[in-house]
Amino acid sequence: MENQVEEFLNALGDAERAGGRVLHELTGQARSLELKELLKKVAHDEGYYAGELSHHVRRLGGNASNKTGDFVEKVRAVGDFRGKLELLNRGQRWVIRKIDENLDNVSDPELKAFLVVMAQGHELNIGALEQALKAAAA
Ligand SMILES: [Fe+2]
Repeated sequence: MENQVEEFLNALGDAERAGGRVLHELTGQARSLELKELLKKVAHDEGYYAGELSHHVRRLGGNASNKTGDFVEKVRAVGDFRGKLELLNRGQRWVIRKIDENLDNVSDPELKAFLVVMAQGHELNIGALEQALKAAAA
């Protein structure tokens, strides 16, 4: 597979593993039960995306990364819970931007379809979290 695409997919995978870990930590800190459920669901999505990214890299003959991005430390460094959630959503937007920027370089139709749906899933999760932040004192 092309190096550029492999690097892009592995960078996304590292980010998703970091997002999953962050969400797992935040799930434990949420006071509202509904927010806890939402964070658990988003964490599950992140794990799913990370797994699928690795799968696509291997399927296309590349080496799948199993690293976790430094985003975990960045979120840990934020003092308040709401700030952590806001930073999480900014990270999720970064993922959408990266997919938009790289989609034209992806020729494999299955991978392309997966990435389109992954970006849409991120939009949905960002929206759900924004709603939750508006609705509750987290
Ligand atoms: Fe993500």
